[in-house]
Amino acid sequence: MSVSLRDPITLGTLTLRNRLYRAPVLEGAGSAPNPAAVYARHFVPNIEAGLALVIQGNTIVNLEGRTSPGMSVIGDRERMLALKPLTDAVHRAGGRIITQLGHGGSFSLESWHRDYVAVRTSPPFAPSPLPLWIRSLHRGGVHVMSTREVEELVRRFGIVAAWAREAGYDGVQLAGSNAKLLHQFLSPVHNRRKDRYGGDATARTTLLREIREAIAREAGADYPVLLKYTAVEGTPVRQRRGITLEDGVLTARIAEQVGFAALTPVHADVVPNTSICRGQFPRGALRRKGIKHRLLSATGRRTRNLTLAAGLWLSTRRTPFEPVWNRAIFGAVKQAVNIPVFAVGGIRTAQEANAILADGQADMIGIGRPFYAEPDLARRLLNESDPNHDREAACKSCNQCLIPQMLGMPGVCYSPTVKLSLRHRDAKTGTAAA
Ligand SMILES: Cc1cc2nc3c(=O)[nH]c(=O)nc-3n(C[C@H](O)[C@H](O)[C@H](O)COP(=O)(O)O)c2cc1C
Repeated sequence: MSVSLRDPITLGTLTLRNRLYRAPVLEGAGSAPNPAAVYARHFVPNIEAGLALVIQGNTIVNLEGRTSPGMSVIGDRERMLALKPLTDAVHRAGGRIITQLGHGGSFSLESWHRDYVAVRTSPPFAPSPLPLWIRSLHRGGVHVMSTREVEELVRRFGIVAAWAREAGYDGVQLAGSNAKLLHQFLSPVHNRRKDRYGGDATARTTLLREIREAIAREAGADYPVLLKYTAVEGTPVRQRRGITLEDGVLTARIAEQVGFAALTPVHADVVPNTSICRGQFPRGALRRKGIKHRLLSATGRRTRNLTLAAGLWLSTRRTPFEPVWNRAIFGAVKQAVNIPVFAVGGIRTAQEANAILADGQADMIGIGRPFYAEPDLARRLLNESDPNHDREAACKSCNQCLIPQMLGMPGVCYSPTVKLSLRHRDAKTGTAAA
């Protein structure tokens, strides 16, 4: 039987009303006095428009380890429980919410952002010493985690997941992509450890396996744990082999065996750049006075800004936007496992979404950046009678949202062209802008 966007699905103990989810993109709630209200302003309109599931952007399990000041740090139980009004609001609106748990590892703010370098208690965590060509991106090196420290981190994920359950989250997703710490442990470039957390592709999944077990112990075996992970890793240095699709499929099989409820396999480079989201070089944002100034005050030097801009420019050239660019990856993983597979990356139309589902290439459809500009996007994608049903999302993947989110600014659309085009469209079709 052919599956469509409107069909419900069950992930372990969790039932979702349809197949559309908001992929994790930062909301900029950070350390706001009332982060629940900031998140709710983003998510509740999405859910009211019919979206089944929100995956909240990366939330950090330690006091250090953010990659953006806009990320929430869940260093203690109180901070997590402060998000209960958010989960209640999402549930009241008829949807479900899962939070991502992660850590930035060697690319945490403590590695590059002046304010965080100044107050850090130690250099940022890494699985192994950084390869020479990555070292130049860092201020003051990394701290290679001892086996004991990795074990402590495993326990920490378990405890934080238990708090997430208490706060009403319907599950957690491990943030294992975007060159963050869990990705770094999967990567043969970053992880050259000699203990049980390093070795071949199977050994490099040890951290994920142990975290899964710790969450079952602390939060309950029935608590849904999802995984977003780098299944194919790009590296700009040709001689270094990153994670291959074969490794990515192996990780999926292991994840299924140890009880993950669903998988989001993606392509990402070995360093943070636009490979995770593709699209254009964010020239407009880099030229804006306010953003330029904030970036300079964060990096401390014009040359660092230039290096960052050059890295982003190169990655937009190496990994250009293609509609549904992760298709071969999620399609291969779907063939290998029986748990639900989530698609994400450049999905912009209802037709693309329904074709992925109908062809059996994935079970859920994730959309990220387009929700910034169109909070009510789900309404038209899910309803064939909507006058804008067949139109593609207004987001043109210009990535102007990328630099502001690195700096902790609000997670919104920064493109004046997109805003104009939406106004024009709504005037033409007689629909109100959200
Ligand atoms: C501003 C921004 C923030 C993001 N934050 C996260 C995040 O916190 N966790 C994560 O796994 N992916 C994050 N991503 C990646 C998205 O979840 C998604 O994989 C990517 O944007 C491709 O989907 P899209 O083309 O629908 O935007 C982020 C992407 C952008 C552009």
